[in-house]
Amino acid sequence: MAADRARAKRSDSRDKTSPDDQINLLRGWPNPKLLPASLIKDAAQSALSDPKIWTDGLLYGPDAGYEPLRESIAKWLTSFYQVRVGEIGAKRICITGGASRNLGNMLAVFSDPEYTRKMWIVAPAYFLAFKIFQDAGFGDKMRAVPEDDGGVDIEFLRREIEKSENQAKKDGTPEKPRFKHDRRAKVYKHIIYCVPTFANPSSRTMSLARRKDLLSLAREYDALVICDDVYDFLQWPADTSNKESVENLEHVQMALLPRLVDIDRDFEGGAEREGADGFGNACSNQTFTKVAAPGLRIGWVEGTEKFAYGVSQAGTTLSGGSESQATATYMHICLTQGEEQSRLQGHVRKTLRPAYARRYKILMHAIQEHLLPLGFQLPQSTRDIIGGYFTWLSLPEGMNAETLSRRCKEEVNVIVANGKLFEVPGDDRVKFDGNIRLCWSWEDESKLEEGVKRIGIVAKRMLAEGLNGEEYVVVEKEREEDMAQYK
Ligand SMILES: Cc1ncc(COP(=O)(O)O)c(C=O)c1O
Repeated sequence: MAADRARAKRSDSRDKTSPDDQINLLRGWPNPKLLPASLIKDAAQSALSDPKIWTDGLLYGPDAGYEPLRESIAKWLTSFYQVRVGEIGAKRICITGGASRNLGNMLAVFSDPEYTRKMWIVAPAYFLAFKIFQDAGFGDKMRAVPEDDGGVDIEFLRREIEKSENQAKKDGTPEKPRFKHDRRAKVYKHIIYCVPTFANPSSRTMSLARRKDLLSLAREYDALVICDDVYDFLQWPADTSNKESVENLEHVQMALLPRLVDIDRDFEGGAEREGADGFGNACSNQTFTKVAAPGLRIGWVEGTEKFAYGVSQAGTTLSGGSESQATATYMHICLTQGEEQSRLQGHVRKTLRPAYARRYKILMHAIQEHLLPLGFQLPQSTRDIIGGYFTWLSLPEGMNAETLSRRCKEEVNVIVANGKLFEVPGDDRVKFDGNIRLCWSWEDESKLEEGVKRIGIVAKRMLAEGLNGEEYVVVEKEREEDMAQYK
């Protein structure tokens, strides 16, 4: 046994690859081959050739954005989400400069760092949002809310919200926001941030029951749930043995679950029920980044009409007009030109879903072969539909994610996101030092398996080092020899 292990270790260390051959499984961008350049070029050319379109596109846009695009997005969302209460009206949509920009924008409008008690962040969390919350004044008010298999832990959140309400009373937090008044929007007492479907980074999808519970809680405590619904369109069946091509599968052409904003529309009287202020308690922050290209810097948010109007009244919009106005004219063309479906829907259906499904499959096979036997574990066990960009792995007992990611970079030139990146700053109760996130969207398809294999090599070394001193010395000695080759 020991001899086998030693042999395995020796052959592992010979697998060491050239430091030039870097494999990046951290970067959450689309691979350049998946960018729809010709679609956007055609749309831009059409828009800029028609004075009726470019006059609108090149002047300041209306506060809520280019009206034809609001309408075409509303139509697209109506067909994708199949909302029970009927179609989605354009007045529920406000065009934005993308999900990140709009996160900052919405906090400027709907929050106040004195009056708003806390920023509740479902964790592990999209780490680039932290800086946006800090910029909005929530540096010491960010709190992590853990997830389980069904999504956010509602009871934990309820207890913590109650505590924060008691604390606000003790601290004499004013009854009304002092700094944000005389506005055409409202300030919420609490903000909750989450990615309910195909989450970044946990790859989990919040169950329907949990969505309803979260919305009820938000109504009870005057909270706004900001949902980054940015991955909803990118989905495919988990069962990779299915022979039918992803493109032809009807059930992946529709949303997996209603969004929180859909539930808010009709749950127990809806957002405009008697006694409610009509702003609602959930919004869907979406983007063209994942279905077209990040550089376009355009997205939209959906909420109640009052909410969407509130977003459009941010001071920066009142001065500068709608964000990404020229791009909005292109995106409208992408969403309306085409035969059975718009060209953009066709891109999602025929290019993105099949490509990501393939990439997912390659990565999963590699994980099954090289990592699960070492004690790595995947998240959510039973899922029919998979989507997004990422998978989240639990490491073998006792393995530290920071060490693993550092060593992957140093020893096998693979870049991996270690779980600590996704911990909420200032709240160390919810920890992820035993997790890593792998991304299938960016790296060349041909390198995905190799990347995982190399992580397995480092993990095996780490496990071997944990066994006993003698074997540790062998591994260390082999590593020194390996390193010497690269000097
Ligand atoms: C959860 C989440 N929100 C927002 C973004 C960024 O969106 P945008 O490019 O529209 O700013 C990303 C991109 O990775 C994301 O994963």
